[in-house]
Amino acid sequence: MIFLYIFLCSGLEGVVSVFENRKSVLQTTKSWDFIGFPQNVKRSSIESDIIVGVIDSGIWPESDSFSDKGFGPPPRKWKGTCHNFTCNNKIIGAKYFCIGDSCGKDDIISPRDSEGHGTHCASIAAGNLIESASFFGLGKGTARGGVPSARVAVYKTCWSSGCVYADILKAFDEAIADGVDIISLSQGSDGEFPNYFEDTYAIGAFHAMKKGILTSQAAGNSGPDLYTITNNAPWLLSVAASTIDRKFLTRVQLGDGTVYEGVSVNSFDQNNTSYPLIYAGDAPNITGGYNSSVTRFCQESSIDEDLVKGKIILCNDFPRGTFTERLISKVAGILVGSPLPKDVADIFALPAVSLSQKDGTLIQSYISLTSHEGKDSLAPYIASFSSRGPNAITADILMPDLAAPGVNILAAWSPIGSVSGVKGDKRKVNYHIMYGTSMACPHVTAAAAYIKSFHPDWSPAAIKSALMTTGNECGWNNLVHPLNNSTPMSVTRNPEAEFAFGAGQIDPVKVVNPGLVYDANEIDYVKFLYGQGYDTKKIRTITADNSNCTQDNIGTVWDLNLPSFTVYMNTSTFFTRVFHRTVTNVGSATSEYRARVTTPPSLINFKVEPDVLSFSSVGQKKSFTRTIEGRTNVGIVSSSLIWDDGTFQLGFADED
Ligand SMILES: *[C@@H]1O[C@H](CO)[C@@H](O)[C@H](O)[C@H]1NC(C)=O
Ligand SMILES: *[C@@H]1O[C@H](CO)[C@@H](O)[C@H](O)[C@H]1NC(C)=O
Ligand SMILES: *[C@@H]1O[C@H](CO)[C@@H](O)[C@H](O)[C@H]1NC(C)=O
Ligand SMILES: *[C@@H]1O[C@H](CO)[C@@H](O)[C@H](O)[C@H]1NC(C)=O
Ligand SMILES: *[C@@H]1O[C@H](CO)[C@@H](O)[C@H](O)[C@H]1NC(C)=O
Ligand SMILES: *[C@@H]1O[C@H](CO)[C@@H](O)[C@H](O)[C@H]1NC(C)=O
Ligand SMILES: *[C@@H]1O[C@H](CO)[C@@H](O)[C@H](O)[C@H]1NC(C)=O
Ligand SMILES: *[C@@H]1O[C@H](CO)[C@@H](O)[C@H](O)[C@H]1NC(C)=O
Repeated sequence: MIFLYIFLCSGLEGVVSVFENRKSVLQTTKSWDFIGFPQNVKRSSIESDIIVGVIDSGIWPESDSFSDKGFGPPPRKWKGTCHNFTCNNKIIGAKYFCIGDSCGKDDIISPRDSEGHGTHCASIAAGNLIESASFFGLGKGTARGGVPSARVAVYKTCWSSGCVYADILKAFDEAIADGVDIISLSQGSDGEFPNYFEDTYAIGAFHAMKKGILTSQAAGNSGPDLYTITNNAPWLLSVAASTIDRKFLTRVQLGDGTVYEGVSVNSFDQNNTSYPLIYAGDAPNITGGYNSSVTRFCQESSIDEDLVKGKIILCNDFPRGTFTERLISKVAGILVGSPLPKDVADIFALPAVSLSQKDGTLIQSYISLTSHEGKDSLAPYIASFSSRGPNAITADILMPDLAAPGVNILAAWSPIGSVSGVKGDKRKVNYHIMYGTSMACPHVTAAAAYIKSFHPDWSPAAIKSALMTTGNECGWNNLVHPLNNSTPMSVTRNPEAEFAFGAGQIDPVKVVNPGLVYDANEIDYVKFLYGQGYDTKKIRTITADNSNCTQDNIGTVWDLNLPSFTVYMNTSTFFTRVFHRTVTNVGSATSEYRARVTTPPSLINFKVEPDVLSFSSVGQKKSFTRTIEGRTNVGIVSSSLIWDDGTFQLGFADED
């Protein structure tokens, strides 16, 4: 799989497009740097006691990313083992699961990764620092995991035929029994929206949560349509994929002289000819029923052919579907942000250059500057493929939870895995560039492991809260450093707003000091489930205990102690919704927090009571209510609540 797209090009009032091919490439592996998490970040002395469980397609144990040079013996609590190959002090557990017929004759019956995906995800989370890693010279730089001192335990459930639910549930239960600290799950139900009691991932994650283990799961790659997230349980983390900036190496020159570099995927020599440039969002086929928010992704059928004729098109993201001969014969050029030039060249039979998301954005603002106003927007934003909320199971719980880089991610690969997925492709690589929420998920896994290394006793809900309330959507009106990670997500780029990015892109440095957390435990989730009307039998499939539905065991979804607030409304009549929340002080013992609510221009009131919370000790809890009332006929209304003493907390109210 690959993704990303960004088309671009020249034009507009005599703008020039230069497609000048260059061969050598030097890039760094930059997703961690991009989100402000440098190599020399402060580390906890117990990071090497943290065990990251990865349920995926296995691992390539000989990869440099998992060498155990410098590692001591596994943490004493560890009970796991390795099947088929010998563990080292980095990969301390490796098991495969093949209940029934899930593994077949094309598979290596072993936790060894013949595909590459599991190796990639494990190394994003916890791979060693590897200098000079690259994919055919692309992305050259230091490949590193977010918690490089942590240990890895792999549970292989994904085979050539797919990942089977029975295997996954067994893998969860063994990972829990072995003693992992965090579970990373770069997989999900495809196109199904199981109820929680039928959802293997939700059930496995519930068992993990009971034992204090947080599960971080990829939100899915079915965006940008709404209602495409399939993992919706509030006790796990649902991770969207955001973009990072990268430099690539074919030059494109705009009319104002600005030069951008992108990956050359074209064999065409443009001889510096200039063409007009058009932003795909400005070329919707209106008679076909399309608008800018669709067209900007460059789906062929959405574009007005007459408007793009003879021009170079700038697209925001990966088109759903590709251009056919019909459009190829008309447009002058296209830039493709795919990390795999070969695939892109196969697809596009016309001049094309891949740019970083950031440059694409800058060029978009350039177009805006010269043709329209008010369209300026800056990375990061959510890739189009990343699945969107709202939550199809419980509309009043916001999904996704948050976002992390999931585009152009260089990480370890299996040398026997296919590079392109195309049969007959004999190329072998040890590092590969991939996109997907699969790549975003282990970034969050690592950030959660990083929190755990500073706060070993924090619950899964507290860790989730810390990750969300420090996301870059948090404190959005405290603004805003253009061009770096403190820039909030953009609703211009992502009109689906919180349904695309949740609490925004993680900030792994801030996460260890959130000030306050919204904590929750098993009983809170059980109350929520009873409140959803599930019967005892169904709930016990999730909880695996003998909890009963009694009167004091029923809670509303609005009182589940989440760091987000969501109201689903399907009428425009007046409504009132009251949320109860409790925050726990994890900051300084004596502190006073004031509520700051950003109110969007709408007919809705947002009230917080009390609006000052004073603490006198660490661990102290304080409750407040948040009342949301009014009426609306707008698609999404977003507001944020910040508990401010220099530390930010947030909440959202989303109306649908
Ligand atoms: C973002 O920009 C501000 C202002 O230039 C700077 O202080 C801050 O360190 C930057 N943050 C990152 C993550 O680069
Ligand atoms: C791995 O071990 C299992 C159980 O011992 C065995 O059945 C299987 O053939 C082994 N796989 C390989 C590739 O050797
Ligand atoms: C670019 O120049 C070369 C050599 O002068 C020529 O063969 C080619 O057709 C030109 N390409 C375009 C797109 O004009
Ligand atoms: C295109 O323009 C660049 C920069 O102005 C120049 O270096 C290069 O030689 C030109 N290429 C051709 C084929 O004219
Ligand atoms: C717009 O879409 C309609 C229906 O798909 C199609 O018939 C028409 O040719 C398109 N118009 C342009 C200008 O691309
Ligand atoms: C744009 O089109 C999409 C898909 O048809 C639709 O959901 C959305 O509401 C439209 N947006 C606007 C601003 O009309
Ligand atoms: C739940 O009810 C069943 C039967 O009514 C009883 O056996 C069990 O002990 C109860 N469990 C709890 C946790 O109260
Ligand atoms: C609106 O929501 C209410 C409760 O949330 C539900 O009972 C009703 O069926 C919904 N109506 C429509 C038209 O979706």
